[in-house]
Amino acid sequence: MDRRFVVIKEHFEKAAKDFDKHFIRFAPGYEEAIEALVSAIPFSGGGRINVADLGCGTGNIAAAVLKKYPNARISCIDLSERMISLAKAKLCGFKNVEFHAGDLRGYKFTRKYDAVVSSLVLHHFEGKDKELLYKKVYGCLKKGGVFCNSDITRGSTAYLQDMYIEKWVEFLHKGCSRAEIKNTLKNHKREDRPALLMDELKALARAGFRDIDVVYKRYYFSVYGGVK
Ligand SMILES: C[S@@+](CC[C@H](N)C(=O)[O-])C[C@H]1O[C@@H](n2cnc3c(N)ncnc32)[C@H](O)[C@@H]1O
Repeated sequence: MDRRFVVIKEHFEKAAKDFDKHFIRFAPGYEEAIEALVSAIPFSGGGRINVADLGCGTGNIAAAVLKKYPNARISCIDLSERMISLAKAKLCGFKNVEFHAGDLRGYKFTRKYDAVVSSLVLHHFEGKDKELLYKKVYGCLKKGGVFCNSDITRGSTAYLQDMYIEKWVEFLHKGCSRAEIKNTLKNHKREDRPALLMDELKALARAGFRDIDVVYKRYYFSVYGGVK
C-alpha cells in the first residue's frame, strides 16, 4: 500500500471510535448530502435492491439506504477494520448486510448492483486509481443501475477554491476548537486529492455512465453520479 493510504488507514483507525459523535462538526451539510445521495437512488421503496457502499465508515450511508429500502442487500467495504466493526454493530439488526475490510483499489466486485454509493471517500483517489475505480463501478452495476458519490470537489478557479476553503473554515469555527481546525486542514492537505467537479463528471462519462448529474452542491461538497 502506498504511503498516503497507510496514513489514511491510520487516521481512520484512530478516528473510528468517535467518528459518529464528531464528524458532523467537520463536514458541512453531511446529513443533507446523505439525504441527497439516497434520494438519487431511483427504485421503489420496497425493492430488494443490491447496493454497494464504498468506504462505508461506521455505516451511516448504509443505514440511510436501509431506512428507505429495508429489503436492500448491502455490501459495505472499508479500509479500516475498526470502521467495519462499528458498521457491523450499527447494522446488526439487518441480515442482508455483508462487510469487507480492505482497500477499494484492489477490491474485486463479485456481485451485480442496482446502486453503488459512496460518501466522502473517493477524494483520496487520484489519476489512474480514480479512472479504474469508476470503470470497476460501472462494470459491477446492472443495466439501469446508478452510481452516486458525495464528495469534496475543488473549485474551478483559484478564487473559488479559496472561497470554498474559507466557507469550510467558517463552518468549522462553529463547532471546532482552533487546534481541531488546524489539524483538519493539515490532514486535508496531506491525505486528500479532491478533483474538479467537471473532471469528475467527464471521468464518469469516460467510464461509460449516461444521464450524469449533480444532485446537490454546497461550496466544497457535491453529490453527483450517473446511470449505467
Ligand atoms: C470520511 S470517512 C466517510 C465514511 C462514510 N462513508 C460516511 O460518509 O460516513 C472516509 C472512509 O473512507 C475509508 N477509505 C479511505 N480510503 C479507502 C480505500 N482506499 N478503500 C476503502 N476505504 C477507504 C476510510 O477508512 C473511512 O472509513
